[in-house]
Amino acid sequence: MSDTRPIGVFDSGIGGLTVVRALTIRLPHENIAYFGDTARVPYGSKSPQVVRDYAAQDTDVLLKHDVKMIVIACNTVSAVALDVVQKRARVPVVGVIIPGAETAVRASKKKRVGVIGTASTIASNAYANAIRQLDSAVQTFSRACPLFVPLVEEGWTEHAATGIIAKEYLFPLMQEKIDTLVLGCTHYPLLKNVINSVFHNSVMLVDSGEATAAAVARVLEEHKLRNKSTLKPNIQCWVSDVPQKFTEVGERFFGQKLGRVQRAAGFTA
Ligand code: DGL
Repeated sequence: MSDTRPIGVFDSGIGGLTVVRALTIRLPHENIAYFGDTARVPYGSKSPQVVRDYAAQDTDVLLKHDVKMIVIACNTVSAVALDVVQKRARVPVVGVIIPGAETAVRASKKKRVGVIGTASTIASNAYANAIRQLDSAVQTFSRACPLFVPLVEEGWTEHAATGIIAKEYLFPLMQEKIDTLVLGCTHYPLLKNVINSVFHNSVMLVDSGEATAAAVARVLEEHKLRNKSTLKPNIQCWVSDVPQKFTEVGERFFGQKLGRVQRAAGFTA
């Protein structure tokens, strides 16, 4: 049996393409239906209630495309609205928090883990709670880094200004002598170089997108949902605002050319 239905992936906007990139590396033959809520991004500065309402609507967009499972690429949604998506979807759901937390717990020898993310993700304590449940001896040190998202979208991933801001944000975590840092936001994998240079390469960076891709592979196997085809997959993207900026900026996040990007039904002006 082979299930050719797409894996549904959604995010507040463009950043979730880093998770799609990790998925296409781990599962190169799976079709993907991606929804980016570009009209309402960012989610990271919004209240949990608003993010929960958006998450329900985003789930409905994907369900219309007959997805076989849903991946919540957005850390903010995974932190505050995993239960909303799970309740609504009739298919398996994977968020990024638990896979990221599991990888961090495995990686940290000193049991001192830093977590960075949007203001909402950090305020929710979702990573810290997940890590504590996995191993109560691990100490977590969290820090919101709200300026990182606009810097990455501006393409300033190697800019000197980003280095200065990164030092400012990460200094308190350095002082706590962490040995592992969870990149708890879709955009942060693009800042790996800057973050590594702040820590002089002394800290293990956990890319929650990569950890999630491995978790998705396990879920597909368990539920017998694998697409056994060896054909080139169909990666389709829908957005809630006009597609132009998504297409231009998206390729940096995805790491390759994007196919057709369309405006999602119900979001057309
Ligand atoms: N996708 C969001 C996250 O991973 C970052 C962008 C936003 O604030 O919406 O938390």
